[in-house]
Amino acid sequence: MLFPLLLCLLAFIAPLARSCIYHDYCVVGAGPSGLQMGYFLESKGRDYVVFERSNSAGSFYETYPRHRKLISINKRHTGQVNPEFNLRHDWNSLLSHDPDLLVTKYSKEMFPHADALLRYLKDYQTKLGIKVQFNTKVHNIHSVPNATAPDGHVYRLQDQTDQVYVCRTLIMATGMATPNIPPMKGIELAEGYETMSLDPEDYEGKTVLILGRGNSAFEVANGIYGATNLIHMVARSRVRLAWATHYVGDLRAVNNELLDTYQLKSLDGLLESSLSHMVLVKRDDKIHFTYKANDFTPDRFDNIALREPYDVVIRALGFTFDDTVFNQTAVSRGKFRAKKYPAIKHNYESVDSTGMFYAGTASHSLDFRKSAGGFIHGFRYTARALHRLLEWRYEGVRWPSFTVPRSQLLNVIVKRVNEASGTYQMFQVLGDVAVFSEDGLSVTYLEEFPIHLIHELPQRTGIQVFSVLAVVLEYGQNFSGPGNDIFRSDRATGEPSEAHTSNFLHPVLYFYKNLPTEEMMQARDRKSTLPRPDALHHVVEDFTTQFTAQHSHILPLRRFLENIVQQDLRAFFSESCFQLAMTHAEIPEACGSQYMAGHGLLGNPDLLQSASSTGMLNVL
Ligand SMILES: Cc1cc2nc3c(=O)[nH]c(=O)nc-3n(C[C@H](O)[C@H](O)[C@H](O)COP(=O)(O)OP(=O)(O)OC[C@H]3O[C@@H](n4cnc5c(N)ncnc54)[C@H](O)[C@@H]3O)c2cc1C
Ligand SMILES: *[C@@H]1O[C@H](CO)[C@@H](O)[C@H](O)[C@H]1NC(C)=O
Ligand SMILES: *[C@@H]1O[C@H](CO)[C@@H](O)[C@H](O)[C@H]1NC(C)=O
Ligand SMILES: *[C@@H]1O[C@H](CO)[C@@H](O)[C@H](O)[C@H]1NC(C)=O
Repeated sequence: MLFPLLLCLLAFIAPLARSCIYHDYCVVGAGPSGLQMGYFLESKGRDYVVFERSNSAGSFYETYPRHRKLISINKRHTGQVNPEFNLRHDWNSLLSHDPDLLVTKYSKEMFPHADALLRYLKDYQTKLGIKVQFNTKVHNIHSVPNATAPDGHVYRLQDQTDQVYVCRTLIMATGMATPNIPPMKGIELAEGYETMSLDPEDYEGKTVLILGRGNSAFEVANGIYGATNLIHMVARSRVRLAWATHYVGDLRAVNNELLDTYQLKSLDGLLESSLSHMVLVKRDDKIHFTYKANDFTPDRFDNIALREPYDVVIRALGFTFDDTVFNQTAVSRGKFRAKKYPAIKHNYESVDSTGMFYAGTASHSLDFRKSAGGFIHGFRYTARALHRLLEWRYEGVRWPSFTVPRSQLLNVIVKRVNEASGTYQMFQVLGDVAVFSEDGLSVTYLEEFPIHLIHELPQRTGIQVFSVLAVVLEYGQNFSGPGNDIFRSDRATGEPSEAHTSNFLHPVLYFYKNLPTEEMMQARDRKSTLPRPDALHHVVEDFTTQFTAQHSHILPLRRFLENIVQQDLRAFFSESCFQLAMTHAEIPEACGSQYMAGHGLLGNPDLLQSASSTGMLNVL
């Protein structure tokens, strides 16, 4: 085991041998997630490098999506100027301090051409000076013992020229680019999404079968259905519409034209069948999609849906993670449907190997079919969370936070739930956490924390914890689902006393007197974001997603917080405070800034501004 390490050391000494190159952080892959990690490492001045096998950033988008129309929304106008808020509706940009590095400035289309994203990613890398080493294909990744390294080992990587790199911390941002090809007899008769012809002429008058039911399968159907005789689409499970599931990886409206031609009986059709019972057979230049011999007696079923043969079969069954870069037998995979992803912990670390982390779409096993972590608008935030976790673990830098008197907590929460984009996109996954001081008088506020790590918050952030309040955005538990009627007339409520039945995205607050334990986290029911808290509050959903109504949103929230801290948390104009101070023995805490401690709401211009912009200074 020590052999490679020795080689590496010798290489340093012997000037003629090729030295091995060391970095604290190695990121593999310069797609959007690798660039996002590079940005954070660069901004902290860390010793890092990003390896990219191709000669440019974002090369995935040179080929995909094949028909070149992104499915991430590019909303240039929101009626607001707040850049944080606007990111809620800009699904393509990465995070940076540069206000010009936004995809909204690269394309006017709601669903931009993939070339616009490519141009953007190139600019992002060059303008921000992210250190990418192009034309470097990494392979043979394995760990080697190193007693001085914090994890007891380092990672050793090779490129195509057999140059060796040694990395203390490895971040895999290699995406999901290996086509999923099921072990089905005759599958080689199908053309793959990744190489199929895009010329509609090639499908003129053809009868086409598409294997797959996801966005790429429907993207193909949309691209060719004007030319074909008909298209049949087959997959294991029913179609899942993103508008019914709130999961952006499910079928998006921008791709779903074939649903119309199916339901209006215009020859196209969708059906469900497990591919494991089926085979593809070529006869007389046609491809038959049929049952395995033992599973089928033709004379008994003369009306089966797929009895006619096809001219063309297209396979669009998604992508899996490429683990051939590792020098080990196998990489553990996610559970159930997420088995195409590598299995990782909630800190984005491989379950197999300490000190190796995943960023980007490869980290999506954590929130597959739940949240947005597989897409740019989600993983730009999980990459930031990963970087913050790394900063504490390897550099001793605490998770960023700010501390305010508890009288200001209401204002902070109202501001965040109305503008924050990370907790909005990564709903039910990233949440804000307010940590109360031991005496309960002040609150330390952490943004966008991976909420399923809350039981380990002190170890993960370096912040001491007594009582905590988690602020998470959630959809209603019973609302979403492929079969649910999401347009039913009682789908939304405006009634604050019914807030817990809210179906659309709304803030949910979980208060714990003591941090929940690991057992509590494990034992929670699968639908719940967090275990049963000591106090729970739902802020009622809102049609405009502005949780600023005095009576419906703010008053019930204030009552909830008052109940937790056992204090009057009203906010006052300074005249009111003055008046109260002159007429009462005790004054509300929010007046304290003027009359006692000198650092309250009215003394802090930032909070004052945010509070007044949400109407907070009115006495309730
Ligand atoms: C058909 C399709 C369409 C999609 N459309 C969208 C969309 O519109 N919007 C959206 O947000 N998401 C979309 N996605 C999801 C998409 O995969 C991600 O958003 C995004 O590309 C993933 O970014 P990433 O950085 O994690 O991985 P990638 O973009 O795949 O980047 C990985 C990089 O790693 C490099 N690499 C891989 N292996 C090695 C190696 N061994 N050595 C060196 N370099 C290596 C690759 O060359 C690549 O540049 C789509 C996915 C598919 C399959
Ligand atoms: C694993 O490492 C051994 C020894 O360095 C090498 O011979 C082998 O080719 C490597 N395998 C892979 C898949 O990289
Ligand atoms: C061992 O790890 C330390 C700390 O990460 C690093 O500085 C050193 O270069 C490593 N040594 C080798 C031979 O990889
Ligand atoms: C969801 O449905 C279950 C079972 O029907 C029910 O017990 C529960 O109260 C519902 N939850 C909400 C929030 O409506």
